Amino acid sequence: MGFRMIQQHWDEFWQQGYITTFGLPLVNNYTGKLRELWEEIFSNLDSGTELLDLATGNGAIPCIAYSTLKKANKFANICAIDRAKIPASIPASPEINEAREHIHFFGDSSCEELIFPDNKFDLITSQFGIEYSEWKQSLPEAHRVLKPGGECHFFCHCDRSALIISTQSDLEVYESALEEMKIFEHAINFTKNFQSIGETKLACTTTLNNAVNCLQAKHKGHDLCQIIVNETSQQLKRLNSTSAELVRESLETIRKSFRAAQGRQKDMLSAALSKKDVTYISQFARDIGFDKVKAVDFSQDGDLVGVYISLTK
Ligand SMILES: C[S@@+](CC[C@H](N)C(=O)[O-])C[C@H]1O[C@@H](n2cnc3c(N)ncnc32)[C@H](O)[C@@H]1O
Repeated sequence: MGFRMIQQHWDEFWQQGYITTFGLPLVNNYTGKLRELWEEIFSNLDSGTELLDLATGNGAIPCIAYSTLKKANKFANICAIDRAKIPASIPASPEINEAREHIHFFGDSSCEELIFPDNKFDLITSQFGIEYSEWKQSLPEAHRVLKPGGECHFFCHCDRSALIISTQSDLEVYESALEEMKIFEHAINFTKNFQSIGETKLACTTTLNNAVNCLQAKHKGHDLCQIIVNETSQQLKRLNSTSAELVRESLETIRKSFRAAQGRQKDMLSAALSKKDVTYISQFARDIGFDKVKAVDFSQDGDLVGVYISLTK
C-alpha cells in the first residue's frame, strides 16, 4: 500500500475511449459475476439515491448503476471521480453514452481529497480503484462524505488473484523485451540500416535475431512474448514496401503502447492487497467509525478475482 503512480498512463488510456480497464476484450463494459454483483447492489437502491464512484476511469461501474436503475424506472444522482483526466464523451454503445450523459464526472480529482460536503452520499462504490489511493487519507474521506447509515462497496485487487499472478509474469516479459533485450532499439536500428549493404547490415540483423531468440528462449510459449515478436516482425516486413521512416514511426508507437501497458500493470501490482493489508484496512475502518466491516475473497469460474470490502457508517 502506498506507491508512486505515473498518472499520464491513465490519462492517455482513458482518452482512448475504453470503458473498462481491460480495453478491447471488454468493450461493452464488465460482464459475468462481477457485473452481477454490482447489479445486485444497485437493484436495491431507491430513486434519488446519492451515489459516488471512486477512481472511476471512464465510469464502468456508474454506467452499470444507471442501467440497472433505469430498468426499474428509477434514477439516482451519480457522481464519479478519478485522478486522471476523464473525457466528456467516448466512442461507445448508445447504452453507455446515455448512462455517461447522466453521470457527473470529476477528473483530476483524488480519493484522498474528496471535493464533496460531509454526509452527502448514500452509497460509495469502487472497483479496482480505491486500492490505488492512500487508504489512510481516502478511507476517512469516504467516511466523511457518506451519510450516517450509508454504505461503501469496494471490489479490490488482491495479491493472490489469477489476474495479479498473470500480471506478474507479463511484467517479466515486458522487462526482458523492453529493458533487457531492447527489442525495439534493435528493430529501429535495423530499419536505419536496411538499405545498407555488407557488414553493417549483417551486424544489425544478427543483433536483432539474437535479441529475439534470447527473448523467446527465456519466455517460451508466453502469449505476450509472441505478441511482441509478431508485432515487431510485422512492421519489419513492411520495409519491403514502405519507407523506413514510416516503419520506425510505427515501431515507436507500438513501443509506447507496450510501455504504457507495462506502467498500468506495475500500478495494478502495487495496488493489489495482501492479507495483511486487508486486516489493516478492516481495523482502520473500525477505528475511524465504520460499522459492519466485512472483507471476503470473491471468485469467478473457480478463479480468485479479488477481495470485496463492505462498510457501513
Ligand atoms: C484500474 S483503474 C479502475 C477504473 C474503473 N474503476 C474500472 O473498474 O474499470 C484505476 C483508476 O484509479 C485511478 N486512481 C489512481 N489513484 C487514484 C487516486 N488517488 N484518486 C483517484 N483516482 C485514482 C487511476 O487514474 C485509474 O483510472
